[in-house]
Amino acid sequence: MSNKFTIHNKLDKSKREYDFAFLVHPRNIQDIYKEFPFLKIVPVVLFMFFFKKIPPVILSTVNGVVDEKGKKIKGVIISLPITAEQMLRDRNLAKKQVFRAIKKAKKLGATYVGLGSFTSVVTSGGQDVCGLIEGVHVTNGNALTASMTYLGIQDLIRNSTVREPNIAIIGATGSIGSAVTELLTKDGSFGTLYIVGRTPSHIQKLLQRITPHPHSHRVMETNMEEALPKVDIVVTATSASGTVIRAELLKKDAIVYDITQPKNTPQDLLTKRPDVTFIDGGLIKLPEHIHVGYNFGIPTNTSFSCLAETILLSLAHYPDDFCVGNVTLEQVKYAETLANRYKFSPIRHT
Ligand SMILES: NC(=O)c1ccc[n+]([C@@H]2O[C@H](COP(=O)([O-])OP(=O)(O)OC[C@H]3O[C@@H](n4cnc5c(N)ncnc54)[C@H](OP(=O)(O)O)[C@@H]3O)[C@@H](O)[C@H]2O)c1
Repeated sequence: MSNKFTIHNKLDKSKREYDFAFLVHPRNIQDIYKEFPFLKIVPVVLFMFFFKKIPPVILSTVNGVVDEKGKKIKGVIISLPITAEQMLRDRNLAKKQVFRAIKKAKKLGATYVGLGSFTSVVTSGGQDVCGLIEGVHVTNGNALTASMTYLGIQDLIRNSTVREPNIAIIGATGSIGSAVTELLTKDGSFGTLYIVGRTPSHIQKLLQRITPHPHSHRVMETNMEEALPKVDIVVTATSASGTVIRAELLKKDAIVYDITQPKNTPQDLLTKRPDVTFIDGGLIKLPEHIHVGYNFGIPTNTSFSCLAETILLSLAHYPDDFCVGNVTLEQVKYAETLANRYKFSPIRHT
């Protein structure tokens, strides 16, 4: 599997060869150094300044996807030249880059575009770019991500030594976080569910969303310092560009289920806290014949659920935008139906 950028300069522009595109970006400067080690000798400020000016590039192609009629569905992964932190610092530039990448996707023939990582966050879950480019539909991929996250947490609850474990969702007010909170509040298989957000009005909206559900009285709004020492399972789902979890605050033997990109969990978590279990969450198992052509640093034959959702919608020839903004439970259900139909399977945590 290639781990290098493949800038397809010689691509025949008249040939519309792809059905869908998925947008990504370097999570941080380390990701850029991994691809271009020679940049280490250039002052960071200088190359970052020029780097963000280059157009989006093709990172890899997705192969092995075949629809029910035997038609090959080809995908392309396009990377924006801008890190998560730069995207948060300059949202306008980031939005322009997302727009440029969607235009590039269209030129390559794609009629479906998945907004990976912060390309979704900086466009309000895709709302800012949805409908802007004729003939291209978008999804933020969050419905399948919410589903896989919920199923992952269910496994952790089932296998927990605690009968009804306490759970915290950090970033509960986000697109994925709020859907997962609602799913959990419906089934109630936890002791107390602590929700941690950042913006008070978003917290109020989330509380209203879950109020009709039977277990909402066991949901508590709080902050991270209060929540972490009390919970057996921590789910991280923020769009912070750096770490937010403080290792020393975690309860003994806690499990951290981190779906974020870039990661909310510090790299040295397990050194500082060997009693804690870390799970790279929000992933899904791909059928063996599908290859995404790039090593994202996750296990072979797995994918980020947001990429998988894009593949599934393209496979099903879904005729509209799908998940834009917040995720609804109907979208979660539909994404699950597609995953079952095309044999994309949840990763079990036994
Ligand atoms: N594993 C996968 O397959 C997969 C798929 C899709 C997305 N993701 C990742 O999942 C994460 C969440 O995505 P999303 O679309 O749900 O994001 P989102 O809708 O933008 O929500 C982000 C959440 O994070 C909170 N937040 C933002 N900055 C924060 C900070 N500095 N400290 C604490 N909380 C902060 C927000 O709080 P307020 O709203 O209250 O301000 C909100 O609750 C991202 O890292 C994304 O890259 C992973």
